[in-house]
Amino acid sequence: MAKKDIAKPVALDPRGGRPRDKCVTYIEGIDRILNGGVPIGNIVLLAGTVGSGKTTLAMEFLINGAKAGETCCYISVTEPSSKMLSNLQTYGFFDESLVKEGKLNIFDLTVINDRLGVERLDGTYTAKDMEALLGAFEDIVDELGVTRLVIDSITAVCYQLPDKGSIRNFIFRLSQFLSTFGCTTMLISETVVDSNVQTYSIFGVEEAVADGVILMGNIIRQGDLLRSLQVVKMRGAKHSRARHLIELTPVGLAVVPLLKWGQDGGQAFT
Ligand SMILES: Nc1ncnc2c1ncn2[C@@H]1O[C@H](COP(=O)(O)OP(=O)(O)O)[C@@H](O)[C@H]1O
Ligand SMILES: [Mg+2]
Repeated sequence: MAKKDIAKPVALDPRGGRPRDKCVTYIEGIDRILNGGVPIGNIVLLAGTVGSGKTTLAMEFLINGAKAGETCCYISVTEPSSKMLSNLQTYGFFDESLVKEGKLNIFDLTVINDRLGVERLDGTYTAKDMEALLGAFEDIVDELGVTRLVIDSITAVCYQLPDKGSIRNFIFRLSQFLSTFGCTTMLISETVVDSNVQTYSIFGVEEAVADGVILMGNIIRQGDLLRSLQVVKMRGAKHSRARHLIELTPVGLAVVPLLKWGQDGGQAFT
């Protein structure tokens, strides 16, 4: 896919504060919605139901960064990295040399857990395990010089933490060192459809700690099931809050122009 021309990746704070440098996603339309990109060092919850396109968007974010010379890292929690690697071959925007050159690094959480000796039979981390895991993430980011990180999914990590307080603490500590390193992060959050209330996570605390929330979902429009994306929150950036229609194409995610989208907005569910 041809690289797009994107304006200088900074945005002026409308309240007169200093502009923050942006991590340009190089994804069609998303940098426009975000007014230049994700503020560098932000930790963003990428939330949505199964099949809404979270892994695809996150991978494109990493691959585009790797192509621009950044060191990027994907931590696979729910499936083996070998499976992820074979899925990558189906993306038109993937380039195998990025993996060989160490620009795109893919790790299995289970392998990290084994090395740390923190794999528990009951599936719950102790406070000591949590420290060890945070230390391992910090070492990876520090030693490789990672500037884009994806954890797919944070939901699966949260299931291994004993309570909501531990989840809040884990994500808060993670975001603290990641922002210090200037590492822009996407935490993938698996949500379930609830017709009464909009949820961004299973445990309900992840979105409060994250700097940003991007919601991916489905919309029924004239009987068709379409995909949507909405930036709900993004600290440090003035951004569109509209729900946008997206398409997952072989060459990557594309935001459909508003004209094609129409006025009614369709009936949304995530
Ligand atoms: N290589 C590909 N090319 C085009 N579309 C794809 C490709 N891989 C996945 N998709 C589409 O994207 C959908 C969402 O995939 P995925 O990003 O894995 O969703 P999620 O992570 O939210 O569960 C798939 O159901 C499929 O329709
Ligand atoms: Mg996925």
